[in-house]
Amino acid sequence: MTKIIVEKSPALKGTVKISGAKNSVLPIIAASLLSSGEVFIDDIPELEDVNVIIELIKYLGAECTLKDGKLRIMVDIKDVEAPYDLVKKMRASFLVMGPILAKLGHARISMPGGCAIGTRPIDLHLKGFQTLGANINIGHGYVEATAKKLIGKKVYLDFPSVGATENIMMAAVFADGVTAIENAAEEPEIVDLANFLNKMGANIKGAGTDTIRIEGVKELKGTEHTVIPDRIEAGTYMVAAAMTGGNVLIENVIIDHIKPVIAKLTECGVVITEEANGIRVKGKKNYKAVDIKTLPYPGFPTDMQAQMMAMMSCAKGTSVIIETVFENRFMHVDELKRMGANIKIEGRSAVVTGIDHLSGAEVKATDLRAGAALVLAGLVADGKTVINDVHHIDRGYVKIEDRLSKLGAIIYREE
Ligand code: EPU
Repeated sequence: MTKIIVEKSPALKGTVKISGAKNSVLPIIAASLLSSGEVFIDDIPELEDVNVIIELIKYLGAECTLKDGKLRIMVDIKDVEAPYDLVKKMRASFLVMGPILAKLGHARISMPGGCAIGTRPIDLHLKGFQTLGANINIGHGYVEATAKKLIGKKVYLDFPSVGATENIMMAAVFADGVTAIENAAEEPEIVDLANFLNKMGANIKGAGTDTIRIEGVKELKGTEHTVIPDRIEAGTYMVAAAMTGGNVLIENVIIDHIKPVIAKLTECGVVITEEANGIRVKGKKNYKAVDIKTLPYPGFPTDMQAQMMAMMSCAKGTSVIIETVFENRFMHVDELKRMGANIKIEGRSAVVTGIDHLSGAEVKATDLRAGAALVLAGLVADGKTVINDVHHIDRGYVKIEDRLSKLGAIIYREE
């Protein structure tokens, strides 16, 4: 079993270049199933989750060639079924439902199961497909959707779900008339997906606001697209620089996308400045504790909650962290406590009282961002931190140990 070992490290220094966004590239690869032409996607991050979605669209009939971070896709869908083996590896596999239903009028996708951060239902995705006229049947662990022709309608989401907004937007591209998704998610990844679809010939307006209008078109052609930078990877390296009292230039970021992280780190006393090639993060010892509440974009991202909790574990003072997006995203708390952190959970809130020193321990990554939080904690903890179940980290961070080592961290992998 592979482990990542992190030792107490000096202040990080240097430059790190951020990869293409995982949560953008996954729906964009799924959306390429809608195209009748050749699609090229640039800045593909080398991640396990990306391998899974490529494997899935190949299974469905796509031809894929990945070279130097550029993916060429040519689609001829031969199968409308996404099997259990591929969907169980990654929940985002369910994002192929909208495109297959839109293109062929019939899709059968294995139900995504629960996961470490909560039950994560798909009711809003299904409500959207149904509103557009699809028949939904659930049985034998599969969701089957059929529709002779989808018809544009108003779809109100009870919660601005990222996945439901994406799936419904993709399902609606060929529908008759106009679909309006209300209370839609506003994340930058939604805008990136809409831009990609529009380049292929779709007619989508309002992505990035709470109402997205999709006017149905007949066909989508091929295109070229470069994925936006990963705002969560950027945020994670910003916290690494901040916690170690380092001085790091983060390249390939869109500052607007990381405003909430910049705001919170600044409140802690970290100095963040814009430069021509990116943003510079200058950490300081004895940074202040701050309160955090996760919210849909443009609020503070749930995907940065665990990393901020690692940082707050060593802050001066007490911080209250409230998780409102997922009901069970505190699995990292027990692991941080193994390293000495003083954290109390009350329902969806965590009260973190900063301590002087975390101590290195053997811990496990319970999910992707929990794993990132443990790497960050390990950078400042006394002695050695041994992280198990690192496959979670590899799902969303490109060569994390190489990038941190280049910044001066003491981190390596052991088989
Ligand atoms: N929800 C429902 N019904 C639905 C869909 C969602 O109740 O039909 C609930 C979920 O249970 C959750 C909340 O809505 O409590 C938010 O879920 P959302 O659908 O917005 O999340 P997602 O699409 O499953 C994406 C990211 C996550 C990120 C969330 C929130 C991808 C591939 N995943 O998930 O990323 O945390 O949005 O921003 O885009 C990660 O990268 O570590 C990660 C978990």
